[in-house]
Amino acid sequence: MQKIIILDFGSQTTQLIGRRVRELDTFCEILPYNKFPKDDPSVIGVILSGSPFSVHDPEAFQVDLSQFVGRVPVLGICYGAQFIAYSNGGKVEKADSREYGRAHLQTVDTANLLFHGFEPNSQVWMSHGDTITAIPEGYQVIASTADVKYAAYWSGALSSQPSPLTAQQTSCPPPPAPRPVFAVQFHPEVFHTLQGSLLLKNFVVDICGSRQDWSAASFVDTTVAELKAQLGDDRVILGLSGGVDSSVAAVLLNRAIGRNLTCIFVDHGMLRKNEFRDVMRDYEGLGLNVIGVDASERFFADLAGVTDPEQKRKIIGRDFIEVFNAEAKKIEGAKWLAQGTIYPDRIESLNITGKVIKSHHNVGGLPKEMHLSLCEPLKWLFKDEVRRVGRQLGMPEHLITRHPFPGPGLAVRILGDITPEKVRILQDADDIYIRGLREYKVKLSGEEARRVLAAGVPAKLLSPAPQVASTSPTPCPLPPAPQDIEVSLYDQIWQAGAILLSTVRSVGVMGDERTYEHPVALRAVTSTDAMTADWAHLPYDFMAKVSNEIINKVKGVNRVCYDISSKPPSTIEWE
Ligand code: XMP
Repeated sequence: MQKIIILDFGSQTTQLIGRRVRELDTFCEILPYNKFPKDDPSVIGVILSGSPFSVHDPEAFQVDLSQFVGRVPVLGICYGAQFIAYSNGGKVEKADSREYGRAHLQTVDTANLLFHGFEPNSQVWMSHGDTITAIPEGYQVIASTADVKYAAYWSGALSSQPSPLTAQQTSCPPPPAPRPVFAVQFHPEVFHTLQGSLLLKNFVVDICGSRQDWSAASFVDTTVAELKAQLGDDRVILGLSGGVDSSVAAVLLNRAIGRNLTCIFVDHGMLRKNEFRDVMRDYEGLGLNVIGVDASERFFADLAGVTDPEQKRKIIGRDFIEVFNAEAKKIEGAKWLAQGTIYPDRIESLNITGKVIKSHHNVGGLPKEMHLSLCEPLKWLFKDEVRRVGRQLGMPEHLITRHPFPGPGLAVRILGDITPEKVRILQDADDIYIRGLREYKVKLSGEEARRVLAAGVPAKLLSPAPQVASTSPTPCPLPPAPQDIEVSLYDQIWQAGAILLSTVRSVGVMGDERTYEHPVALRAVTSTDAMTADWAHLPYDFMAKVSNEIINKVKGVNRVCYDISSKPPSTIEWE
């Protein structure tokens, strides 16, 4: 399969470049800057990411460009562009003022294939402290802003074949294998660069020659075939959590090996309201061979009186492994443990600060004597791709669009000790909140709609997409055009939930009676990967309605607060 390699120099937007390339139905791999794969004929192009470093920093990441320049087309972004200039005799200097934020391409060479279809004055996003003050010999500038002369430059001369790029190039797909180098100091991957997706499409499809054959349908076909070949008649165990990843992995495996897949779904008693029952019903509807284990009594007994957050997590983790293992051992002859690991869990992150930012929470670990091999059918997919695969497999939308939910469940959302009664209170409040988020619809247009669509959020289209003028005689897939859409608050949010502050009581009044009960905090965050998160700006009328309903209907709660903390410095979960 054709692939684009994205070399990561530590930018926060490297994963976003990957997602944008995948949106072009093209497979890509994100690798540390120094791990370019030698002799891989499937590589059709290379993208160099941005970096927190300046090319002049002694610890700046450096790469030997000769590994790929002249062999496949190359696109340097931000630091990538500066590194190409710096390594080829150009000049990179501290910018007079930090070039950050929106800018407009005052001149742009639309005859150059990279900018084919660009509008005059197109908005781009800059974010750099250094700037290129001289480009290397043999390169030409192809775009400038008011402040950045070398916003983009290129060289077609490195092509080992005559470059067709200077000619009027209008066909799609493009002619084979020119090997130019392009460099842009702005960030085409962020949505503030309004024609960023078009630039990436020009590079990936028209310049690198992607056949655009990476799609949910092709992924399902090839993965099912590979799983059949890999697993043969072996038995496989998979732990279901009710979440999207493990559910999609299960349905995919079920399609490949049917009854040889046994799924285990453990109820620790701290799932959402009716979740165990509803999700079991969904799984059975999908034809999965699933064992549901209600172990809630054991978990509640072991957690009784425990208030320390880490201690609670440890008890749940230990009990979960023991319950899961006891079930797994009953499955005779099992050879594989399947997991819903996805690509962002595996991308090797560069150690920039010396600190681990993300710690893994996965509860797991099977007894060694079972000698199980690991099977991870979703290991190449981003979250939005997992959802697309789920749709391709015909899974119900509510299962596909679920928010992430922590393994220890509501236990990390109850301050203090855990009792079945507290879980009941929180389940009721949480249920009102989540149903409210699903029911509340928001209309979006323009940039906001574009961003939401680009992130793969399910949306109802309210107006037909405006016709985008194409200069190509044959239709090429173009980035989503702005249009009016309707989305639910739930689908716009990465994750939401209620937290029971059961160590706090406050006074209230219900009818003529004084109350002295617990507050519930509501949390909703936007995020792309849970490593950082921003609190969601929910509409006031929505908050008013939900607060009323919770206080009126949930016995034991007399106050509702909204958590307006971002991560960092806070975390998404309270414990
Ligand atoms: P924090 O609270 O660290 O959460 O900002 C980041 C993401 O991880 C989820 N989370 C967990 N997931 N087991 C899990 O499977 C856990 O123990 C766990 N703790 C937090 C959290 O819901 C958020 O999506």
